[in-house]
Amino acid sequence: MTDDLNIQWYPGHMTKTRRMMEEEIKLVDAVCELIDARIPVSSRNPDLDAICGTKPRMVILNRIDMADPARTRAWAEHFKALGYSVIRTDCKSRKGISDFSPALNRLLAEKRRRYAERGMAGKPLKAMVVGIPNVGKSTFINQVAGRKGAKAENRPGVTRGKQWVTVDRGLLLLDTPGILWPKFEDPEVGLRLAWTGAVKDDILDTETLAARLLAQLWQDYPEAVQARYKLDGSLLPADFSDQTLSAQGFVLMELAAKNRGFLLPGAALDLERASNVLLEEYRSCKLGCFTLETPEASHE
Ligand code: G4P
Repeated sequence: MTDDLNIQWYPGHMTKTRRMMEEEIKLVDAVCELIDARIPVSSRNPDLDAICGTKPRMVILNRIDMADPARTRAWAEHFKALGYSVIRTDCKSRKGISDFSPALNRLLAEKRRRYAERGMAGKPLKAMVVGIPNVGKSTFINQVAGRKGAKAENRPGVTRGKQWVTVDRGLLLLDTPGILWPKFEDPEVGLRLAWTGAVKDDILDTETLAARLLAQLWQDYPEAVQARYKLDGSLLPADFSDQTLSAQGFVLMELAAKNRGFLLPGAALDLERASNVLLEEYRSCKLGCFTLETPEASHE
């Protein structure tokens, strides 16, 4: 059963940023899209296909240190089957970073061959990194460019000259990461972005946000939730599975608060504390490394 969630969020400058991105994409031969491996559907921008046209594309599944390894493998296969070049990275430990330039060279091999045929063998090829805010674009660019540098500014209203950084011989990267916004209309997308910390928590009250997360984790990773919060399925009401996800989440949250001893003076349950703890434990992977979306459930 679905909930009627009233999620309100809408970042400004969307149109302007998109226009800027359309201009910048004209300068490059390939587009490399960073995706949060924990939410590979919700961390994408559905307009990117239209913005990129027929440019060769790479998907960089980032934050693999925080995601479910089996699901990361499934997502990598899924994107490969759709024709993308795919790499998997953890920008914290630099895992997968060295795969970038060989993969980009392979992706652009045909273009390089065409340049060679036309006597332009030395012409450098160019790529751009795009992704939604906070997915790790600046960190990624700094790492593939082998520098510590400050966050590249590409915010609306901030003008600066185009700069290209060399990632390999004959391979240049536009050093301003392209910012795209995720899809807003779908409340599920808003929830997942808030759970992972990509957007602020205040799109919804904390308790509903956490209750929905707990219900989803109970569905996808019951053993991990059971172990951490000592939840016993036999204590759930008989009509549990007929309830909305929010209602299910609140039932689970009350049990979790009781089991963890989150009580207010007078012995009422401290659901606010239980909610904050759940969100914090999920985001810091104390519960485990989870991926909340699967290729089977995506409609691509
Ligand atoms: P953006 O340009 O797309 O907005 O993202 P940015 O690179 O600023 O990265 C956002 C945060 O995500 C940074 O943390 C960064 O270190 C972290 N991050 C990026 N990639 C990964 C990854 O693969 N795994 C993990 N665990 N974290 C990643 P921060 O807290 O803002 O800064 P800091 O603590 O690293 O200084």
